[in-house]
Amino acid sequence: MQKVREFHRQSIQDREAFWAREAQRIHWETPFTRVLDYSRPPFARWFVGGRTNLCYNAVDRWLDTQGDQPALIWVSTEVDQEIVYTRADLAREVNAAAATLQELGVVQGDRVLIYLPMIPQAAFFMLACARLGAIHSVVFGGFAAHNLAQRIDDAQPRVIVSTDAGSRGGRPIAYKPLLDQAIEQSSHAPERVVLVNRGLAPMDLTPGRDLEYAPLRARHLDAQVPVVWLESNEPSYILYTSGTTGNPKGVQRDVGGYAVALCASMEYIYGGKPGDVYFSSSDVGWVVGHSYVVYGPLLNGQATVMYEGTPVRPDAAILWRIVETYRVNVLFSAPTAIRVLKKHDPALLSRHDLSSLERIYLAGEPLDELTGQWLSEALGKPVIDNYWQTETGWPILSAQPGIEEVPTRFGSPSFPVYGYDARVVDETTGRDCGPNQKGVVAIEPPLPPGAMSTIWGNDERFVRTYFQSFPGRLCYSTSDWGLVDDDGYWYILGRTDDVINVAGHRLGTREIEESVNTHPAVAESAVVGVADQLKGQEAMAFAVLRNPALLEESGARERLEAEIKRVIEQRNGAVARPARILFVNTLPKTRSGKVLRRAIVALCEGRDPGDLTTIEDPGALDQIRAAL
Ligand code: PRX
Repeated sequence: MQKVREFHRQSIQDREAFWAREAQRIHWETPFTRVLDYSRPPFARWFVGGRTNLCYNAVDRWLDTQGDQPALIWVSTEVDQEIVYTRADLAREVNAAAATLQELGVVQGDRVLIYLPMIPQAAFFMLACARLGAIHSVVFGGFAAHNLAQRIDDAQPRVIVSTDAGSRGGRPIAYKPLLDQAIEQSSHAPERVVLVNRGLAPMDLTPGRDLEYAPLRARHLDAQVPVVWLESNEPSYILYTSGTTGNPKGVQRDVGGYAVALCASMEYIYGGKPGDVYFSSSDVGWVVGHSYVVYGPLLNGQATVMYEGTPVRPDAAILWRIVETYRVNVLFSAPTAIRVLKKHDPALLSRHDLSSLERIYLAGEPLDELTGQWLSEALGKPVIDNYWQTETGWPILSAQPGIEEVPTRFGSPSFPVYGYDARVVDETTGRDCGPNQKGVVAIEPPLPPGAMSTIWGNDERFVRTYFQSFPGRLCYSTSDWGLVDDDGYWYILGRTDDVINVAGHRLGTREIEESVNTHPAVAESAVVGVADQLKGQEAMAFAVLRNPALLEESGARERLEAEIKRVIEQRNGAVARPARILFVNTLPKTRSGKVLRRAIVALCEGRDPGDLTTIEDPGALDQIRAAL
């Protein structure tokens, strides 16, 4: 691993020289005057004074050489449709979307909220925003009205782009009623709502506010919207992610640093080159969708596959069928999807010609050794575990075959990626841990290009949330436990906070608790993440009722459980629905009133609850045991 190590060392020792060289990968309308401004730690500003544009670099820059080649390949097994957009088609659609937004008054700095399923218009509108310098905020389609309302309030969008419906397992899932509810619940009202009508569900249009996209698009199909050249550190987008509070954090990304970092990662981490085909099965509502469905591949002149559907419909060979049909070079998925495939007929893995496929990347949750090994043996292709977060925007730990092929170890996402001065830090002393010593995975600032610049509208929260975890040390905390072995391989050992990961979806347990607590019968609750063979983790809720005698009525337990699940579904979406709601008379707490989550998780997983010296009422744990 000589080359990877040396490359990493250079990137940290002389950050400016390293990134000045990488910055040449993109077009700068105006060159930058400084590579890095780190005069106000921990805020890092990259490529200061440089003017560029994400949409120009992803679309226009490739028109001369790749105008007639595939750029966006849309496959939907939900509505049985496949469309290949060339780079020229993409340019046309993006310009039409940009002209539409412009007609509705959107200008640089305005926010546009995008609440769409995996349809090409999601990418068109993201790129259209980038073209205009408007800041997009894509909200995952699986989130419900309350989540959406919180994001509308925080981002204050001038325009919202949405649709009549998504589809899951062949059944339409209406979006418009959720959007209407969300707008009603929020205190900010968007001026306009643009609706892509898929003809899947009836839609009520609010006069004066709601507009169907089709006629707007038709009017603007030949528009040529000038690119707005943005200073490298202007915001490109806001993407909300869960943390330890009930309020999601708006991760704010820059323009120039993000473009450079993604372009470089496409080569060094994903081994891609212009003309290659990249297929990430993530949803655009998550960070992987932003970085590796939309921006990364397109910025590097690669085609991207956008997939609306599940990995098992029409059968569990669908991912491989797509790889064969479109000669995919790299597949990026999540461990949960692979665990699901593992349950199906192994013959499905050899039904298609996978000769184009070079590697498979998995991220978003821990990749267990068995699953990784199974996939790589079954396909005879390298499987690469990469570790990162919404906050960083691109991998922190990964094998980097574009630099050097180094043997991987299942269970380990390999080594720190260039640009990240990654450490394992002892949370009590704030000092670096030695080999094999468990600590918090941290990044010595400045964060590299493309990582979050701040929390939207809240610099103070950015510093407090991410940079104040270690005594006497200004260092970014990932909130993940980890360790490095004697050979320099890194391991991720779970979250240090109340965030859980269900099937690769990052969820805040506090957000779910707040929903449980809105049920009138509930006094308080604790939601924890419990190990699950398929989904990695699943949510489990423990609720204390205002009147425990309620449970004595026949059928009350089942009725309450169903009602609380429904509340969660309506507020947070089906992804957040706990596997079970269990009722107890009291929650195990410390004397200072903190719920002992780790002890609850241990009991749920059949383990020893550990150190209980701080517990207020040991009987509370017996109740958890009994409820289980
Ligand atoms: O806990 C880590 C886990 O997912 C979190 C980040 O989730 P999100 O913000 O949705 O970004 C996903 C980007 C791929 C991390 O803090 N996580 C992510 N990748 C891995 C992982 N845990 C173990 N191994 C991974 N490869």
